[in-house]
Amino acid sequence: MNTPNPGIMFDIGQGEIMATPEILEGGRIEPDAYNSRERFEAEREMFGKVWLNIAEAGEIPNPDDWIVRDVTCRSVSAIIVRGKDMNIRAFHNICSHRGMKLVWDEKGRGGKFSCPYHAWQYNTDGELTHIPDAECFPHVDKQESGLTPIHCDTWEGFIFINLDQQPAQTLVEFLGPMTEALKNAPFQEYPTSVRCRSVIKANWKLGVEAQSESYHAAALHARTVAKMGVTSRFVRQTTIWQT
Ligand code: FES
Repeated sequence: MNTPNPGIMFDIGQGEIMATPEILEGGRIEPDAYNSRERFEAEREMFGKVWLNIAEAGEIPNPDDWIVRDVTCRSVSAIIVRGKDMNIRAFHNICSHRGMKLVWDEKGRGGKFSCPYHAWQYNTDGELTHIPDAECFPHVDKQESGLTPIHCDTWEGFIFINLDQQPAQTLVEFLGPMTEALKNAPFQEYPTSVRCRSVIKANWKLGVEAQSESYHAAALHARTVAKMGVTSRFVRQTTIWQT
């Protein structure tokens, strides 16, 4: 029996753990990994605590550009916005008044967000800036009634959010040795960026696994991707669902 590779350790803020030794040694994954309800619920919890790569900085290049991203398994909709100071911030896409979904489009540009319900307005820093008929709300403290922030950070132009109230790790800590391995990688020099969106009624790991190996490209994508070689960068956003 082979000894598991001691280098395959990772940490998602709960201490170092190793991939299941049986899988590493036997090369087989039990069906439970894909169809266990208990495991799936545990994974949904995990997605509320780890850093999630949710967008690229190039999608919001200018001040006041914004996009909306949903984290379906956490029932979260997030506004990702570049402020006038060029910093990228993230907020829950929920009005602080009555909890209305604030932004309904997928992307846009503009220095304010206006709630469709009663027209409370927020700026790109998430501050509550305007309340129609404000005299009717003497108890509302604007300073305390802004949008709820989400932890947000970037690495090499990739935007990550963390839905935990107090992330156990910084983004760089979470990414671990990958940051060193990909240091100085010329991400910005790839000439093409394509975003595809799919809704797949399958366990999320099937989607990730398909995107983590290029073994299939020569056969399955013989007429498209295989011909494009390494000069294109593909970004696939997949909304995951479990059967
Ligand atoms: S719910 Fe948004 S302004 Fe009332």
